Amino acid sequence: MKTLLVSSALAMLATLFTPAHASEHNGAAMAATCAGCHGTHGKLRNQEFVPLAGMPEAEFIRAMRDYKSGKRQSTLMGNLAQGFSDRDVQAMARYFARVK
Ligand code: HEC
Repeated sequence: MKTLLVSSALAMLATLFTPAHASEHNGAAMAATCAGCHGTHGKLRNQEFVPLAGMPEAEFIRAMRDYKSGKRQSTLMGNLAQGFSDRDVQAMARYFARVK
């Protein structure tokens, strides 16, 4: 049971940190990689992490650029933002702005 938990946790981390669908420029697919921390479809069940659903496009893009450049301090998002191109970020921005 314990091994099962550990291996499923590892599998989850692998999907979280591998933007596997990035080349498809599919905002919804890329956004799924954020669900582990930011909630399913950007919605949150608890308040530990910032909700992304409904975030204005411009605000989202600015946040991701600032994490990527290091202008904005972060524990996790700086490393994560490195994995996405400007086009990827725009695709996700459109997706999140539409999710309510
Ligand atoms: C491993 C957990 C984790 C994952 C996965 C994750 N985030 Fe985050 N996110 C955080 C944390 C923690 C913060 C707060 C800043 C920090 O300390 O890094 C944050 C903050 C943010 C913010 C700033 C929100 C605001 O209101 O200013 C944005 C935007 C964001 N994340 C986008 C994303 C996107 C897009 C993805 C998927 C590509 C993603 N995050 C995946 C943990 C995560």
